[in-house]
Amino acid sequence: MRVLTVFGTRPEAIKLAPVIRRLRETPGLTPLVCVTAQHRQMLDQVLDLFAIRPDRDLDIMRHAQGLTWITTAALQGLAEALPELRPDVVLVQGDTTTTFAAALAAFYAGVKVGHVEAGLRTGDLSAPWPEEMNRRLATRLAHWHFPPTAEARANLLAEGVADAAITVTGNTVIDALFDAVAILDADPARAGAAAAALPPPDPARRLILVTGHRRENFSGGLARVATALRRLADRGDVRIVYPVHLNPAVREAAAPLAGHPAIDLIEPLDYLPFVALMRRAHLIITDSGGVQEEAPSLGKPVLVTRETTERPEAVAAGTVELVGTDPDLLVARAARLLDDPAAWRQMSIAHNPYGDGQAAARIVKALTDG
Ligand code: UD1
Ligand code: UDP
Repeated sequence: MRVLTVFGTRPEAIKLAPVIRRLRETPGLTPLVCVTAQHRQMLDQVLDLFAIRPDRDLDIMRHAQGLTWITTAALQGLAEALPELRPDVVLVQGDTTTTFAAALAAFYAGVKVGHVEAGLRTGDLSAPWPEEMNRRLATRLAHWHFPPTAEARANLLAEGVADAAITVTGNTVIDALFDAVAILDADPARAGAAAAALPPPDPARRLILVTGHRRENFSGGLARVATALRRLADRGDVRIVYPVHLNPAVREAAAPLAGHPAIDLIEPLDYLPFVALMRRAHLIITDSGGVQEEAPSLGKPVLVTRETTERPEAVAAGTVELVGTDPDLLVARAARLLDDPAAWRQMSIAHNPYGDGQAAARIVKALTDG
């Protein structure tokens, strides 16, 4: 069986790397990889770490690209690549525009699609935008559905997906995270290299780790988060480290924070240093999907700068709080975690609502079982 994984962005690569490894280890399978390279530098960081050499690289990324460009360039590139790669199965992950375009290209080519991280829903097509639509369209195009949780499975069943087509697997990001933690704990040379990529620890101040990139936060949301971060940094007892996503809209919104003595604006980190940084953090402020999934496994409280989430499990468990982007509210909720040790402890319980590290094995078994 020729199994082609298609992906384009940093989080897809992190989440598919454990699947690709498992496909390589499984006798009787021919694993193939095609990247759209909707991201370039941030994708290559992950390909290097996991030693993934794509069979095809569509290299579509353009500066400040639009959704129509990503969709049409990926679709056209895949229309040319699929007849050459001759896959029996195409695997896609999550909810990016690459995910949707690759599932559509496979459908046009008559190739069955497996959708990793299926079934996440906010119920609101405007948030996350365009991801909520991308994942719904991927569901319609997929033959195998791999939801991470029981709740995601229930969403698929409610939309009429047949139970027999669904396998609850856990999220593969937890496979990747556990691998990264194992390397950091067992390999002093790589742990040292990861630490060397980070700003030096500041024992006098607690660390707040920040990321952000959602398109629905471009028109004001990211700027409001920046206002809140400045006020938190002015407290004098915290250090904020903000690896800034390469999207020009994100960089523009973060730029006014440059030069603040308690704020480090840094380039996107390789995955191992980023995991090391999450482990150092006192709290995390983010709109990232992947970080919302990883942080509970590390016992780190998360304030989510969104109005809604498709990842309700950690919110229900109390380690993730949906705050939105109002600066007063964000400062107040962060201050509570900084000033009330009992509140911080309550949100810092490590648990794994999104997976047990075995998701890739379940996905490959479901594929090979037919
Ligand atoms: C994309 C996905 C989003 C996902 C996110 C993960 C879509 C529509 N968006 O958002 O679902 O959560 O990735 O990070 O699929 N850029 C670079 N180098 C890079 C990456 C991006 O320069 O390695 C810049 C380019 O100018 C590019 C722009 O960022 O045009 C936007 O990239 P794009 O993939 O369109 O959107 P993201 O915000 O990264
Ligand atoms: N990440 C990383 N380096 C960084 C920031 C994030 O390796 O500087 C990882 C993070 O651990 C998670 C993934 O990238 O696994 C999340 O990617 P992103 O926030 O870009 O996308 P999303 O998950 O929101 O789609």
